[in-house]
Amino acid sequence: MLIAQLTDTHIRAKGQLAYGCVDTAGFLKAAVAHLNGMPHQPEAVLITGDLAETGTEEEYAHFCDLVAPLKAPILPIPGNHDDRDTFARMLRPMAPMLPKSGDLSYAVDIGGLRLLLIDSMVPGQAHGDIGDDRLAWLDRQLSVQPVMPALVALHHPPFDTGIAKMDAHSCRNAPALEAVLLRHSHVLATICGHVHRTVLTTFAGKAASIAPSPAHAIELSLRPDAPLEFRLEPPGMHLHAWTPGAGSGRLITHHVPIGTFSGPHPFFEPGGRPVG
Ligand SMILES: [Fe+2]
Repeated sequence: MLIAQLTDTHIRAKGQLAYGCVDTAGFLKAAVAHLNGMPHQPEAVLITGDLAETGTEEEYAHFCDLVAPLKAPILPIPGNHDDRDTFARMLRPMAPMLPKSGDLSYAVDIGGLRLLLIDSMVPGQAHGDIGDDRLAWLDRQLSVQPVMPALVALHHPPFDTGIAKMDAHSCRNAPALEAVLLRHSHVLATICGHVHRTVLTTFAGKAASIAPSPAHAIELSLRPDAPLEFRLEPPGMHLHAWTPGAGSGRLITHHVPIGTFSGPHPFFEPGGRPVG
């Protein structure tokens, strides 16, 4: 069971670059082509926020055009760059599970796995927060399926990464989220976006990760006074592979660089001899 995770696509209106130099639309087009060309198709493509750069209707229309060729259905949640109402209105035709308005959290069961997609955005703010109502909803969702393994997804990481300017804008009430997740042993992992680079850690005693952007990466600078900058590192996404088994089974997260690369090249000749 494969779930792809794209995040932080930051699409602008047609013909516009992000930050004057990043062709986010071109990067998303490459990501869609890469996903469609994978020999094993994911059941769904989770998109963990910041789909658009400024949250306008034009940007979401452009986003929808770019992801329309995807073979797998999309499961989007908003990030701090998104506009909640415009997001819901423009994305629902492609993602009918999305609530019509208000808090855009939702739950989807796919192939024996429960995906809990949490809206962590705070309108007008860069940081995230999960309100008490949303935490209570999450607790209920985890309680009604007390055995089905669950994957929790949200835009803002509920943990620090060491990149100070991003940590200032993480999910503020992480301890409350952690307290909910600790009550449910069938939670497999917490997966996030926002930081535009692969980060692996633990949260609530389980695996936790941040996926890279298919476009620009936040500069990896661990000095407390480092400015917030970006770099055009190799684009990427995550592919989460879940296998049922004892307990909640096993979740393997693969980092997938996006692009066209030479290969695959064989190690062995047809007769079995190593290629010299
Ligand atoms: Fe972002």
